[in-house]
Amino acid sequence: MRPPYYYCGTLLLLILGFSKSYAYQEGKVTGSRFFIFGDSTVDAGNNNYISTTPENQADYPPYGHNGYFEKPTGRFSEGRIVVDFIAEYAQLPLIPPFLQPSAEYVNGVNFASAGAGILPETNQGLVIDLKTQLNHFEQVRQSLIEDLGEAEANTVLSEAVYSFSIGSNDYMGGYLGNPNMQQMHDPEEFVGMVIGNLTQAIQELYAKGGRKFAFLSLSSLGCLPVLRALNPRKEGGCFEEATALAMAHNNAFSSVLANLEHLLKDFSYCNSKFSIWLDDRINNPLNHGFKDGINACCGIGPYGGIFTCGGTKNMTEYKLCESPDDYVWWDSFHPTEKLHEQLAQELWYGSPDVGPYNLQQLFSGNNKKFIIADVVDDPSYEQKY
Ligand SMILES: *[C@@H]1O[C@H](CO)[C@@H](O)[C@H](O)[C@H]1NC(C)=O
Ligand SMILES: *[C@@H]1O[C@H](CO)[C@@H](O)[C@H](O)[C@H]1NC(C)=O
Repeated sequence: MRPPYYYCGTLLLLILGFSKSYAYQEGKVTGSRFFIFGDSTVDAGNNNYISTTPENQADYPPYGHNGYFEKPTGRFSEGRIVVDFIAEYAQLPLIPPFLQPSAEYVNGVNFASAGAGILPETNQGLVIDLKTQLNHFEQVRQSLIEDLGEAEANTVLSEAVYSFSIGSNDYMGGYLGNPNMQQMHDPEEFVGMVIGNLTQAIQELYAKGGRKFAFLSLSSLGCLPVLRALNPRKEGGCFEEATALAMAHNNAFSSVLANLEHLLKDFSYCNSKFSIWLDDRINNPLNHGFKDGINACCGIGPYGGIFTCGGTKNMTEYKLCESPDDYVWWDSFHPTEKLHEQLAQELWYGSPDVGPYNLQQLFSGNNKKFIIADVVDDPSYEQKY
């Protein structure tokens, strides 16, 4: 028994006389579904529905300030975030938050939660941690099996793209901001635990039929406005301890992914050297259409690094810049919509910093390893930049 929306899709296509469609074809979903796991970088509103602190929510102005959405949605940006652009390039509608009432799962689901970490200890009780995000995915999988039958559900699950943007909160609040954790584990051991838990999450999704994975690696955390402002040492410099943890994480995780590709049949993935890409925008903003790579558009204090954007937190005073598009950073922790868009383009079309597959290949099922020459020959790549 198919749910009624399949018939609606078919009917609409017949009326419009479409011969080819990305989403519906003869009543079947033919596009890859998009499942999103992560933290505030990709939360599209799940935290609107949990009880947490204002630091973990963005459903108040000036979030959503650029008017793309009618009102603040819970996205930590003045507009859209990277997964919104990726969905657009994949010709999918916006992917709804899992907790949004009456959300439809037909094109995928966003499980992400601002403040979440890979470890359950990170911001415990205030966020939907990764394990719980996976439990939510399991509910969606069960309902897919009920709706489509096991065989077709398995096809859908193997064609879907599973994306992860998570880990920063483990190193910031979970470790550097948590003396107890530092006493229990040295940095190397802590990174090992985080990577171990992330690897388990991937293996669990693989065991449930997931084959295509996308990862946003960690940025140079120490260069977030909030950590520049906290840096006890260099005036205006990046907080190197934070960046070092993120880089150790990225290095360890790259090796894990290379191993999984050997060990797991048909496992394919897109990873990115996000920190190198972002550092270039922080250090040379003018080369990428920005005017300021260091200061937050919304916040107060040095670098806008005191996280008061919106005035809902302990301190109610905040400043808002005139043109967010001039800035890499929207608030003390999060980038602007323009940065999100450039990142989505990078992941979609690929570059030497993205691989072994780009997102276009994962979504289209064209699992030919990414070759740099493809990009150079693709005129839309130049255009998009
Ligand atoms: C996962 O994290 C927990 C701490 O929450 C840790 O005890 C455990 O060893 C980690 N698992 C792996 C496989 O690293
Ligand atoms: C905000 O204030 C509350 C209550 O005074 C306090 O418990 C909390 O730690 C403060 N949060 C921050 C981020 O300063």
